[in-house]
Amino acid sequence: MASLTGHISIIVLVLLFGGSKANPAAPSHSQLDVNRKKPLQTFRPYNIAHRGSNGELPEETAAAYLRAIEEGADFIETDILASKDGHLICFHDVTLDGTTDVANRTEFAHRKRTYEVQGAKVTGWFVVDFTLKELKSLRVKQRFSFRDQRYNGKYQIITFEEYILIALYADRIVGIYPEIKNPVFINQHVKWSNGKKFEDKFVETLLRYGYKGAYMSEDWLRQPLFIQSFAPTSLIYVSNMTNSPKVFLIDDTETPTQDTNQSYYEITSNAYLAFIRNYVIGIGPWKDTIVPPKDNYLGQPTDLVARAHAHNLQVHPYTFRNENSYLHFNFHQDPYVEYGYWLNEIGVDGLFTDFTGSLHKYQEWTKPYPKKQKKAEALLHEIANMLKNDGY
Ligand SMILES: *[C@@H]1O[C@H](CO)[C@@H](O)[C@H](O)[C@H]1NC(C)=O
Ligand SMILES: *[C@@H]1O[C@H](CO)[C@@H](O)[C@H](O)[C@H]1NC(C)=O
Ligand SMILES: *[C@@H]1O[C@H](CO)[C@@H](O)[C@H](O)[C@H]1NC(C)=O
Repeated sequence: MASLTGHISIIVLVLLFGGSKANPAAPSHSQLDVNRKKPLQTFRPYNIAHRGSNGELPEETAAAYLRAIEEGADFIETDILASKDGHLICFHDVTLDGTTDVANRTEFAHRKRTYEVQGAKVTGWFVVDFTLKELKSLRVKQRFSFRDQRYNGKYQIITFEEYILIALYADRIVGIYPEIKNPVFINQHVKWSNGKKFEDKFVETLLRYGYKGAYMSEDWLRQPLFIQSFAPTSLIYVSNMTNSPKVFLIDDTETPTQDTNQSYYEITSNAYLAFIRNYVIGIGPWKDTIVPPKDNYLGQPTDLVARAHAHNLQVHPYTFRNENSYLHFNFHQDPYVEYGYWLNEIGVDGLFTDFTGSLHKYQEWTKPYPKKQKKAEALLHEIANMLKNDGY
């Protein structure tokens, strides 16, 4: 863990000096020396670090993201919510109960509320009832009791901007994969000046830090980004503000969309895929809807991946977890067998995993990074840039 601690202190410096102002300037490219960085790999499916390396460290914390970068993530994934005073933060649940110490903080005892969230009554301490300063005073803990509890109470909630800086200051090019989380709920509870919406603030933040450009464009390869949401109206709305690639998340077969109240079957129909293709580059389905299990054995795969590919949509299923309790019996309690099945049999284009290190090892064993070729490409890129700068 020594190297992790070292990385954290560097990031703390970055966050102190780069991230504490209200609107920190985006680091300049020369500062980041981006052209000398190892590029994003694009020759094999993406390793998407779900909430950071949250199998090991408390989710959505700087430590979890740094660990994921160390372990080989192509993208670090996050959920964006908003504080009472309109700051965007990295946090999964609309309530703080599951992954912070809020229940132990007597000064916040009176903040417990019951709100309707996606048609269900939810009681707890809501992110939208706390200012950023108050959120920063909390400490994050591990969500699951069967995972490592040693890091509970050590880390703060981080902002969207701090998360972006973690990716930008990585020693190789690491993409970001932020979700516009619960936009219906957030827009009901948080108000911004000038009638701005959650989605406006979300895209403004990305643009301010230089995230732009179509999939695989030079801008995109320099700062890779996928914008994700379960809400189609949010994805369509942000399409007018950014051409960055977007991914439409698809819930289980029982949950209708939070904004348009459409069923799973409607949004996975060919007609809908043909429609949403105008706005997104891919879909992010729950993996058990692609291969529905029965008695913890895999059933017959559906045709969703084939139909998505036929519509030229990538497929990035969620969520891969190493623990036995999440592995269907066909996989012999071996997460590598599960990765092999999804990469080779089902043929997906990216995987959301809680254990980035395991997926990275599997991919390095089975489809290793062509080191020499990439080095040569990086060198050519550098020479081309030098010539360009010299006016050729
Ligand atoms: C809350 O306090 C209890 C009792 O002191 C302790 O056992 C528990 O670990 C604390 N939980 C958090 C999340 O800090
Ligand atoms: C996007 O912009 C176009 C052209 O300005 C407009 O017609 C359309 O209504 C806009 N869509 C959204 C969702 O704002
Ligand atoms: C959503 O659709 C279902 C099924 O058509 C319907 O029963 C329900 O009332 C709708 N909910 C809302 C909030 O419109």
